[in-house]
Amino acid sequence: MRRNLIDILDLSVEEIDELCAKAEDIYHNPEKYTDVCHGKIMGALFFEPSTRTRLSFTSAMMSLGGNVLGFSSAASSSVSKGETVSDTVRMVSAYSDIIVMRHPKEGAPIVAKMSSRVPIINAGDGGHYHPTQTLTDLMTIRRRHGRFDGLTIGVLGDLKYGRTVHSLVGAMSRYKNIKFVFISPDELKVPQHILNLYKEKISYIETENLEDVIGDLDILYMTRIQKERFSDLLQYERLKDSYELTREKLKNAKADMSVMHPLPRVTEINTDVDDDPRAAYFEEAECGRYIRMALILKLLADKTSDMPLEGETVTGKICGNPRCITSCERGIKHLIHNGRCIYCDRKID
Ligand code: CP
Repeated sequence: MRRNLIDILDLSVEEIDELCAKAEDIYHNPEKYTDVCHGKIMGALFFEPSTRTRLSFTSAMMSLGGNVLGFSSAASSSVSKGETVSDTVRMVSAYSDIIVMRHPKEGAPIVAKMSSRVPIINAGDGGHYHPTQTLTDLMTIRRRHGRFDGLTIGVLGDLKYGRTVHSLVGAMSRYKNIKFVFISPDELKVPQHILNLYKEKISYIETENLEDVIGDLDILYMTRIQKERFSDLLQYERLKDSYELTREKLKNAKADMSVMHPLPRVTEINTDVDDDPRAAYFEEAECGRYIRMALILKLLADKTSDMPLEGETVTGKICGNPRCITSCERGIKHLIHNGRCIYCDRKID
């Protein structure tokens, strides 16, 4: 029996509260935790580049007294020789006690959990989900605002491929009176299949203009326009400079608004914002170390199993999403649950 973290909704709101409280205790009393993972090994399988997620997970495991093995690019693993995700994870789960995995294809961590003997943590799967970034975001919101209910959250940038956005919307959909203001170019709006999952639980408006709405926001969650997700680079060139937050634009924002960003940033936040007390993004990245320590402890100790899927699962239909892990993993079983691909959540007719 083991728990995995693939989607932020795999954790209940009570568990998220416990993780945030544990992370604060670790932050204030690190000496209590220096040896609690002695003898444990974390596998870090990064098929896609990362600075914060990989290094904060590594720092987290080392700070708990554990060890880390793994790779930081697909090129330095046997995937470059044609090995599948399933075989790779099967092997690494024989060498480690917990696995953290980032992969460019949507749903790859679900393949991983099917072939693993140890807990799998999704560290970002393509443009789909990034639940541990959301834990980091929630810890930051809790610190700065003291609550999750009743917030108006502006989310700006690449809302189409932004996995941190999709996980944040899912997480916040479980709190009361949340209003989202989605700010993006038309081409980068939140995908309908993501809105369909949460639209009954959140209220939202969509706009292209930050200046019109900045005064209403408690949180402005900025994101990068992600070059690596575009198949049409001309479209990327046209959209990449759509937004730039400057100190001047912050003049119209609330005095206690938080400017958040999962990072890395490119040009969407001018460095002249960094010294403003509302800039929360470096604190947010720092929180990543402590909330990931709390998560590692929880999943290593948790001997329950994932919540079962409710409803009917069928095979025989094919997911046609080229960004889904089903498009490239050999031997994969296409599984459709309640009309959606279980790996990437796309509706299958
Ligand atoms: N926020 C985040 O996922 O950053 P990295 O890509 O550097 O891990």
